[in-house]
Amino acid sequence: MYAVAILGFGVVGSGVAEVLDKNADRITQGASRELSLKYIVDVREFPDSPYKDLIIKDFSVVENDPDVRVVVETIGGVGVAQEFTRRALAAGKSVVTSNKELVAKFGCELLQIAKDKGVNYLFEASVGGGIPILRPITQCLAANKITEIYGILNGTTNYILTSMIKRGASFDDALAEAQAKGYAEANPTSDVDGIDACRKISILADLSFGRHMDPDWVKTVGIRTVTAEDVSYAAENGFKIKLLGRAVLNEDGRIFAYVAPHLVPEENLLAGVEGVNNGIVVRGNAIGDVMFYGAGAGKLPTASAVVADVIDAAKHEHARKLVSWDEGDVSMMRDSAELESRWYVRTGEKQYITPSAQSKSSIDASLAGVEVLTLFRVLD
Ligand code: HSE
Repeated sequence: MYAVAILGFGVVGSGVAEVLDKNADRITQGASRELSLKYIVDVREFPDSPYKDLIIKDFSVVENDPDVRVVVETIGGVGVAQEFTRRALAAGKSVVTSNKELVAKFGCELLQIAKDKGVNYLFEASVGGGIPILRPITQCLAANKITEIYGILNGTTNYILTSMIKRGASFDDALAEAQAKGYAEANPTSDVDGIDACRKISILADLSFGRHMDPDWVKTVGIRTVTAEDVSYAAENGFKIKLLGRAVLNEDGRIFAYVAPHLVPEENLLAGVEGVNNGIVVRGNAIGDVMFYGAGAGKLPTASAVVADVIDAAKHEHARKLVSWDEGDVSMMRDSAELESRWYVRTGEKQYITPSAQSKSSIDASLAGVEVLTLFRVLD
């Protein structure tokens, strides 16, 4: 028997169970073997779930069952998820996850355990929800030196900004609407303050540049300061405001990385990425720019990417995917304040876009003594 266990029966975990059932024939064909969902580990009770007979509370049952070859970790966070991932890998099982917090912080170490054990740690769903992005970077674009990667990496904030742009909603109203629709969580901090996007750009940079970039090294600003005045000024001047994560390889081999709201020109494809969709641009020295677009969040889109990794792990049980990156240290980073761009400035008196590119340090110096209400980069 080739069995699968799911850890965490929340939105994504239940989506994984659903996709495994719904597309069983296609999955068997893709994996060249039949996969059987044997356990779902969760501390909660699910008496009405069609999967209630599979639900157990004790992870060690999974850990000690040799039939379980792939463990899907959809718990989230770095506490229990990290411990169970380590134990599953140490027990010789491949682990598949959508947990960007864990991958961004501890991916390097977990990949090493997987390597030592001859199994796989796969996390396509951790960035871009259902959009294929990590495999294209490591496989399809492998012939390129990647020099920059940037994009809309958070569906919730893009949904909020889209409401502000299309309906003229205030940030607070747009957030309340996103919460009512179930996109934003009751505590929306990790989305609206850019933390989720920061984890995702860190993973993209790890894979693109080959060294661990800790999320703590990435200057991160969210969308709480975006106002209806900023949105309408942007629209009048041919821009849309988008929260971008960005990582740029400098000529000296060091990296500029940050998350911040930007004014994106309307003719840029990213300006047309609306609602919970994500759009990610990868710049390679042979391919030029390629863009990946699609559903960046949601139960079934995310489950689609998780189950694809399950299929991959099952199909290549004895062939490790050669995905890894080296340890990094903060000296590999450049201060993002030194990265030049044009700037959108709003003071109590006026709004304008600087005519030429300059560093943040330089614009801060030129605005000394002025009460600056908004200062966003322009994506040129
Ligand atoms: N909260 C995330 C988002 C979920 O809104 O994009 C997908 O990672």
